[in-house]
Amino acid sequence: MKKGALGLIGVLAMVALVVFAGKARDIYEGSLEARVDALASIQPGLGTVMIEYGNRFTDLYFAARGGNWALAQYQLKEAIEIQEVGEVTRPGKAAMLSTFERTYLDPLEEAIETQDWDAFETRFEEAVAGCNACHAATGYPYIEYTLPEQPVEAYLNFNLKTSPTRTLEEEEENE
Ligand code: HEC
Repeated sequence: MKKGALGLIGVLAMVALVVFAGKARDIYEGSLEARVDALASIQPGLGTVMIEYGNRFTDLYFAARGGNWALAQYQLKEAIEIQEVGEVTRPGKAAMLSTFERTYLDPLEEAIETQDWDAFETRFEEAVAGCNACHAATGYPYIEYTLPEQPVEAYLNFNLKTSPTRTLEEEEENE
Protein backbone atom coordinates (compact mmCIF):
# COMPACT_ATOMS: atom_id res chain seq x y z
CA MET A 1 0.00 0.00 0.00
CA LYS A 2 1.18 3.53 -0.71
CA LYS A 3 2.26 5.78 2.14
CA GLY A 4 -0.56 8.24 1.41
CA ALA A 5 -3.24 5.54 1.61
CA LEU A 6 -1.88 4.29 4.94
CA GLY A 7 -1.96 7.82 6.27
CA LEU A 8 -5.57 8.21 5.19
CA ILE A 9 -6.56 4.99 6.93
CA GLY A 10 -4.83 6.26 10.06
CA VAL A 11 -6.70 9.55 9.97
CA LEU A 12 -10.04 7.79 9.38
CA ALA A 13 -9.38 5.46 12.29
CA MET A 14 -8.66 8.46 14.52
CA VAL A 15 -11.83 10.23 13.41
CA ALA A 16 -13.82 7.06 14.13
CA LEU A 17 -12.26 6.89 17.60
CA VAL A 18 -13.03 10.53 18.33
CA VAL A 19 -16.62 10.14 17.13
CA PHE A 20 -17.02 7.02 19.25
CA ALA A 21 -15.47 8.66 22.31
CA GLY A 22 -17.61 11.73 21.69
CA LYS A 23 -20.77 9.60 21.68
CA ALA A 24 -19.82 7.91 24.95
CA ARG A 25 -19.16 11.27 26.65
CA ASP A 26 -21.86 13.61 25.47
CA ILE A 27 -23.91 15.49 28.03
CA TYR A 28 -26.48 16.67 25.49
CA GLU A 29 -27.13 13.65 23.26
CA GLY A 30 -27.90 10.02 23.93
CA SER A 31 -29.91 8.18 26.54
CA LEU A 32 -30.56 9.76 29.91
CA GLU A 33 -28.28 7.18 31.51
CA ALA A 34 -25.43 7.90 29.10
CA ARG A 35 -25.82 11.63 29.68
CA VAL A 36 -25.85 11.20 33.46
CA ASP A 37 -22.72 9.03 33.15
CA ALA A 38 -21.07 11.73 31.06
CA LEU A 39 -21.99 14.37 33.67
CA ALA A 40 -20.74 12.18 36.51
CA SER A 41 -17.41 11.66 34.77
CA ILE A 42 -16.65 15.39 34.78
CA GLN A 43 -17.51 16.12 38.43
CA PRO A 44 -14.59 17.26 40.60
CA GLY A 45 -12.63 14.38 42.11
CA LEU A 46 -10.62 14.53 45.32
CA GLY A 47 -7.62 16.20 43.67
CA THR A 48 -9.74 19.21 42.72
CA VAL A 49 -11.77 19.18 45.93
CA MET A 50 -8.60 19.06 48.04
CA ILE A 51 -7.17 22.22 46.49
CA GLU A 52 -10.17 24.20 47.76
CA TYR A 53 -10.19 22.24 51.04
CA GLY A 54 -6.53 23.11 51.67
CA ASN A 55 -7.01 26.75 50.73
CA ARG A 56 -9.98 27.23 53.04
CA PHE A 57 -8.26 25.33 55.83
CA THR A 58 -5.26 27.67 55.50
CA ASP A 59 -7.38 30.80 55.46
CA LEU A 60 -9.46 29.80 58.46
CA TYR A 61 -6.21 29.67 60.44
CA PHE A 62 -5.24 33.22 59.46
CA ALA A 63 -8.78 34.46 60.12
CA ALA A 64 -8.77 33.00 63.64
CA ARG A 65 -5.31 34.38 64.32
CA GLY A 66 -6.32 37.84 63.16
CA GLY A 67 -9.47 37.79 65.29
CA ASN A 68 -11.87 37.56 62.35
CA TRP A 69 -13.71 34.65 63.92
CA ALA A 70 -16.76 35.00 61.68
CA LEU A 71 -14.50 34.58 58.63
CA ALA A 72 -12.83 31.55 60.26
CA GLN A 73 -16.24 30.01 60.78
CA TYR A 74 -17.29 30.82 57.23
CA GLN A 75 -14.13 29.23 55.76
CA LEU A 76 -14.70 26.10 57.83
CA LYS A 77 -18.31 25.86 56.66
CA GLU A 78 -17.22 26.21 53.03
CA ALA A 79 -14.46 23.63 53.54
CA ILE A 80 -17.04 21.15 54.83
CA GLU A 81 -19.29 21.89 51.87
CA ILE A 82 -16.56 21.10 49.34
CA GLN A 83 -15.66 18.02 51.40
CA GLU A 84 -19.26 16.88 50.94
CA VAL A 85 -18.85 17.24 47.17
CA GLY A 86 -15.86 14.89 47.46
CA GLU A 87 -17.94 12.43 49.51
CA VAL A 88 -20.49 12.26 46.70
CA THR A 89 -18.07 12.05 43.76
CA ARG A 90 -15.68 9.64 45.53
CA PRO A 91 -17.99 7.52 47.71
CA GLY A 92 -15.13 5.13 48.47
CA LYS A 93 -13.51 7.87 50.59
CA ALA A 94 -16.75 9.21 52.13
CA ALA A 95 -16.48 7.32 55.42
CA MET A 96 -12.89 8.48 56.01
CA LEU A 97 -13.80 12.06 55.20
CA SER A 98 -16.77 12.17 57.54
CA THR A 99 -14.76 10.50 60.32
CA PHE A 100 -12.08 13.16 59.82
CA GLU A 101 -14.76 15.86 60.07
CA ARG A 102 -16.19 14.49 63.31
CA THR A 103 -12.78 13.86 64.89
CA TYR A 104 -10.94 17.04 63.91
CA LEU A 105 -13.20 19.68 62.40
CA ASP A 106 -15.99 19.55 65.00
CA PRO A 107 -13.54 20.38 67.84
CA LEU A 108 -12.04 23.12 65.66
CA GLU A 109 -15.52 24.55 65.12
CA GLU A 110 -16.06 24.58 68.89
CA ALA A 111 -12.82 26.53 69.41
CA ILE A 112 -14.00 29.04 66.78
CA GLU A 113 -17.44 29.40 68.34
CA THR A 114 -15.89 30.11 71.75
CA GLN A 115 -13.15 32.28 70.17
CA ASP A 116 -10.57 30.34 72.12
CA TRP A 117 -7.23 30.89 70.37
CA ASP A 118 -5.23 28.46 72.56
CA ALA A 119 -7.72 25.66 71.99
CA PHE A 120 -7.86 26.58 68.31
CA GLU A 121 -4.09 26.28 67.86
CA THR A 122 -4.02 22.83 69.44
CA ARG A 123 -7.07 21.62 67.46
CA PHE A 124 -5.60 23.02 64.26
CA GLU A 125 -2.33 21.17 64.77
CA GLU A 126 -4.21 17.95 65.50
CA ALA A 127 -6.27 18.42 62.34
CA VAL A 128 -3.12 18.89 60.23
CA ALA A 129 -1.82 15.57 61.57
CA GLY A 130 -5.19 14.04 60.64
CA CYS A 131 -5.04 15.45 57.09
CA ASN A 132 -1.60 14.00 56.53
CA ALA A 133 -2.45 10.67 58.15
CA CYS A 134 -5.25 10.26 55.63
CA HIS A 135 -2.93 11.15 52.77
CA ALA A 136 -0.52 8.44 53.90
CA ALA A 137 -3.36 5.94 54.41
CA THR A 138 -4.79 6.54 50.94
CA GLY A 139 -1.46 6.11 49.15
CA TYR A 140 -0.33 9.77 49.04
CA PRO A 141 2.38 9.97 51.72
CA TYR A 142 4.13 12.63 49.61
CA ILE A 143 1.18 15.04 49.97
CA GLU A 144 1.99 16.71 53.25
CA TYR A 145 0.03 19.79 54.25
CA THR A 146 2.11 22.48 55.93
CA LEU A 147 0.87 25.88 57.03
CA PRO A 148 2.26 28.59 54.73
CA GLU A 149 3.56 31.98 55.88
CA GLN A 150 0.73 33.82 54.15
CA PRO A 151 -2.99 33.17 53.67
CA VAL A 152 -4.16 32.04 50.22
CA GLU A 153 -6.77 34.77 49.72
CA ALA A 154 -4.40 37.52 50.82
CA TYR A 155 -6.89 40.14 49.63
CA LEU A 156 -9.29 39.32 52.47
CA ASN A 157 -9.08 41.33 55.69
CA PHE A 158 -8.08 38.70 58.22
CA ASN A 159 -7.65 41.26 60.99
CA LEU A 160 -11.22 42.53 61.00
CA LYS A 161 -12.43 41.88 64.55
CA THR A 162 -15.62 39.83 64.37
CA SER A 163 -17.45 37.16 66.34
CA PRO A 164 -19.22 34.15 64.89
CA THR A 165 -22.85 35.09 65.21
CA ARG A 166 -24.46 31.75 64.53
CA THR A 167 -23.47 28.20 65.30
CA LEU A 168 -22.45 26.04 62.35
CA GLU A 169 -25.57 23.92 62.85
CA GLU A 170 -27.77 27.01 62.50
CA GLU A 171 -25.83 28.06 59.37
CA GLU A 172 -26.41 24.65 57.81
CA GLU A 173 -30.12 24.78 58.63
CA ASN A 174 -30.39 28.10 56.84
CA GLU A 175 -29.24 26.69 53.52
C1 HEC B 1 -9.97 10.73 52.86
C2 HEC B 1 -8.75 11.14 53.47
C3 HEC B 1 -8.28 12.56 53.33
C4 HEC B 1 -8.39 13.54 54.26
C5 HEC B 1 -9.06 13.47 55.62
C6 HEC B 1 -7.73 14.69 53.71
N1 HEC B 1 -7.25 14.42 52.46
FE1 HEC B 1 -6.24 15.71 51.26
N2 HEC B 1 -6.12 14.28 49.84
C7 HEC B 1 -6.64 13.01 49.93
C8 HEC B 1 -6.37 12.29 48.70
C9 HEC B 1 -6.79 10.87 48.40
C10 HEC B 1 -5.65 13.17 47.87
C11 HEC B 1 -5.12 12.89 46.46
C12 HEC B 1 -6.13 13.42 45.48
C13 HEC B 1 -6.47 12.49 44.39
O1 HEC B 1 -7.09 11.46 44.65
O2 HEC B 1 -6.15 12.82 43.25
C14 HEC B 1 -5.49 14.41 48.63
C15 HEC B 1 -4.83 15.55 48.16
C16 HEC B 1 -4.67 16.72 48.85
C17 HEC B 1 -4.00 17.91 48.36
C18 HEC B 1 -3.31 18.05 47.02
C19 HEC B 1 -4.25 18.70 46.03
C20 HEC B 1 -3.59 18.96 44.72
O3 HEC B 1 -3.86 18.19 43.77
O4 HEC B 1 -2.81 19.90 44.63
C21 HEC B 1 -4.09 18.86 49.32
C22 HEC B 1 -3.56 20.27 49.27
C23 HEC B 1 -4.82 18.28 50.43
N3 HEC B 1 -5.16 16.98 50.11
C24 HEC B 1 -5.11 18.95 51.59
C25 HEC B 1 -5.79 18.38 52.65
C26 HEC B 1 -6.02 19.07 53.92
C27 HEC B 1 -5.55 20.46 54.25
C28 HEC B 1 -6.72 18.21 54.69
C29 HEC B 1 -7.19 18.39 56.09
C30 HEC B 1 -7.87 19.62 56.43
C31 HEC B 1 -6.91 16.98 53.92
N4 HEC B 1 -6.33 17.14 52.70
C32 HEC B 1 -7.59 15.89 54.40
C33 HEC B 1 -7.30 12.46 51.00
C34 HEC B 1 -7.58 13.12 52.19
